Amino acid sequence: MHKILCLLCVIYLLTVSAIKNRFEKNGITFERHRGGNYDLLTHEVLTLQSGSIADMPDAYRIYLREQNFTDMEPGTFQNLPSLKTLFVFSNKLQKIKTGVFNSLTNLTLLDLHANRISHIDPNAFDNLTSLEIIVLLNNRLTSLDSHWFELTPSIKWISFAENQLTEIPAHAFGNIKSPGPFSLIFDGNQITNIDNHAFEGLAEIIFLSLSSNKIKTVTGNFLEGLEIDLLSLKDNDIKCIDQEYFGAVFVANKTDISKNPWTLQCLTEIQTWAEQHDKTVEHAS
Ligand SMILES: *[C@@H]1O[C@H](CO)[C@@H](O)[C@H](O)[C@H]1NC(C)=O
Ligand SMILES: *[C@@H]1O[C@H](CO)[C@@H](O)[C@H](O)[C@H]1NC(C)=O
Ligand SMILES: *[C@@H]1O[C@H](CO)[C@@H](O)[C@H](O)[C@H]1NC(C)=O
Ligand SMILES: *[C@@H]1O[C@H](CO)[C@@H](O)[C@H](O)[C@H]1NC(C)=O
Repeated sequence: MHKILCLLCVIYLLTVSAIKNRFEKNGITFERHRGGNYDLLTHEVLTLQSGSIADMPDAYRIYLREQNFTDMEPGTFQNLPSLKTLFVFSNKLQKIKTGVFNSLTNLTLLDLHANRISHIDPNAFDNLTSLEIIVLLNNRLTSLDSHWFELTPSIKWISFAENQLTEIPAHAFGNIKSPGPFSLIFDGNQITNIDNHAFEGLAEIIFLSLSSNKIKTVTGNFLEGLEIDLLSLKDNDIKCIDQEYFGAVFVANKTDISKNPWTLQCLTEIQTWAEQHDKTVEHAS
């Protein structure tokens, strides 16, 4: 009997404290958790308006996940001086406009994965001076804009995985000011073409992933001048690489060439060359 009473008591206390941590602002209900974590619970509109998410001085991490938001107007996020991480994944955003995030100069991580983003204004990420990681995974981007990361001097990790990119054009990151080192993730697009000058302006890359694309040939021109730790060419359509290009292609400390339709002869040549040149070329079948 005492045990049951005690349990009821605990449930009551938990409920009361959860409700106490709820508050409503501009038609949006948030729940505040320990450590400055804010979770959006309910809302009345599908478009976030100027000032919708504002004036929460201790907000360290905000979750606006799985809410079906279709749009965010400039000024949506304001006066959030402690905000470090912002999760807006699994919504229905189509466009990222200039002025939505630009005041968040302390933000280090922006996660926009699993939306329907097909357009990002060139200045959308301007002035995000602390931004290190941006996740654009699983959206509908068909092209890259070299201005996106012009004014994000701390950017290090960019994921474009699972979009609809078909090429990486010349100078795609040509305006980047961050010193890196970078990780660039392009997994699961439809990339067939990488311009010789695609990565010009980047010096050091920790991880360049081109996995699960439609690359048929590589000459390594686009890798010239880069220092790379890990390069993934996994799961593309490469049958062979001409021997004269081996030195240019296998520049990374480690290159993953698994799951390509290699000819046996070519694969053997690559493996022999790698051994002779002390390079790690991984081919897991
Ligand atoms: C989002 O939309 C789906 C489909 O219309 C619906 O089932 C779901 O409940 C909505 N989610 C929210 C948080 O409104
Ligand atoms: C960033 O954080 C610093 C100190 O943590 C604070 O003084 C500053 O106002 C914040 N910047 C913004 C734009 O909120
Ligand atoms: C970036 O900051 C500069 C200087 O404060 C300001 O003039 C500009 O409007 C800002 N850009 C955006 C897109 O907010
Ligand atoms: C490649 O490996 C060496 C030795 O482990 C390391 O010092 C170097 O930083 C690596 N290169 C990159 C770009 O990470």
